[in-house]
Amino acid sequence: KKDVGILAMDIYFPPTCVQQEALEAHDGANKGKYTIGLGQDCMAFCTESEDVISMSLTVVTSLLEKYGIDPTQIGRLEVGSETVIDKSKSIKTFLMQIFEKHGNTDIEGVDSTNACYGGTAALFNCVNWVESCSWDGRYGLVVCTDSAVYAEGSARPTGGAAAIAMLIGPNAPIAFESRYRGSHMSHVYDFYKPDLASEYPVVNGKLSQTCYLMALDACYKHFCNKFEKLEGKQFSISDADYFVFHSPYNKLVQKSFARLYFNDFLRNASSVGEVAKEKLAPFSSLSSDESYQNRDLEKASQQVAKNLYDVKVQPTTLLPKQVGNMYTASLYAAFASLIHNKHSSLEGKRIIMFSYGSGLTSTMFSFQLQSGQHPFSLSNIATVMNISEKLKSRHEISPENFVETLKLMEHRYGGKDFVTSKDRRLLSPGTFYLIEVDNLYRRFYAKK
Ligand code: ACO
Repeated sequence: KKDVGILAMDIYFPPTCVQQEALEAHDGANKGKYTIGLGQDCMAFCTESEDVISMSLTVVTSLLEKYGIDPTQIGRLEVGSETVIDKSKSIKTFLMQIFEKHGNTDIEGVDSTNACYGGTAALFNCVNWVESCSWDGRYGLVVCTDSAVYAEGSARPTGGAAAIAMLIGPNAPIAFESRYRGSHMSHVYDFYKPDLASEYPVVNGKLSQTCYLMALDACYKHFCNKFEKLEGKQFSISDADYFVFHSPYNKLVQKSFARLYFNDFLRNASSVGEVAKEKLAPFSSLSSDESYQNRDLEKASQQVAKNLYDVKVQPTTLLPKQVGNMYTASLYAAFASLIHNKHSSLEGKRIIMFSYGSGLTSTMFSFQLQSGQHPFSLSNIATVMNISEKLKSRHEISPENFVETLKLMEHRYGGKDFVTSKDRRLLSPGTFYLIEVDNLYRRFYAKK
């Protein structure tokens, strides 16, 4: 099987959002802290009518319709999510409603969970299945769906919500270079959800940033080693056209790319210019532990990597800045932003992807892109996703109203015997919504 990878994509995010500038003022934070400090513009959130199940019903239905895929043609369905609604029943089983109607119950796969990494695990499962001898010739379908909400405090502006669906098969315009994957997995308590009565995580913000950067370094090292072994030449930033990062907030993405640049400098890669070498020289003797805490290094490396960041990373940042951290969907929403911005010039390009899930699990992997053939072409994917229109038609909600919504959801979390508001004016036609949770905790959805 040749060029196994992503044939088609669609994305859904709630039409309700709060502006970071307004939230900043509302929270009494210094002006610029969320917008410049974190690098975020806006944040989507679910109202009581939506959740990770409704969003995934919406995005899967939309993908099948818009690409003209017969539901009987799906042979594997994998979901990545870290938003717990039920400790046993998978989100995948809710999605089976779409397929059962068409008589297709022969679909492998369940949910994968580890913080923001579950979507990548789901994607690898589908790609591996298509590449394996248990493949039955049908498509794989991957769904990443999450609602990221934090307790009041410094982490709250780093929330977000979205669902992404990706169709997997051979001869894909977005093909995996499966031989180069580099992973790093470890046991840490940087972000976790031990309190089953609350949707909110326990988070050590500073530790999570350091863990992310350490995982990035380790994955890059493994990725480079594999590339170099197989290709017989050094890998550096100049061997890839775009870098896509899991995006909790944009500032961390800026720091991450600068960190890769610093790695290239330490490895004496050809891509680092003379001026940059001079600027980074004072930091070459730092121990790796020291290097994560050194603010001058952070500034210097961001400065020397700035021009390359603008070319190789900036086109991937639109949705993560506008929608916020979408957990499992974040990395793929960043990739969707690249397709949206550059679909007509991506033929032959190599894309590096970095997936991170706290706790922690992480992988760096790469895609090789081709224009593809309708309906599985990059330009059609951009048309179907219709990102500009989806962003434009959103409704700005006041910070007061946002906070109130989260309070209601806190109260509802894990609850039963309630119906949601009948006012669904803000949802666009075709959107699935939660109608009620009955006295046996069973959830009922409908399509607007
Ligand atoms: N103008 C411009 N910049 C400002 C301003 C201002 N007025 N005020 C602060 N800043 C800058 C800071 O200098 C800092 O930037 P720097 O790191 O480049 O110096 C940035 O804004 C953030 O300020 P901090 O004081 O570091 O922010 P705080 O500690 O309050 O919270 C954090 C940030 C830790 C990211 C928090 O939002 C959080 O815990 N989020 C959840 C955890 C997370 O997302 N971790 C990432 C990986 S794990 C995952 O994906 C869930």
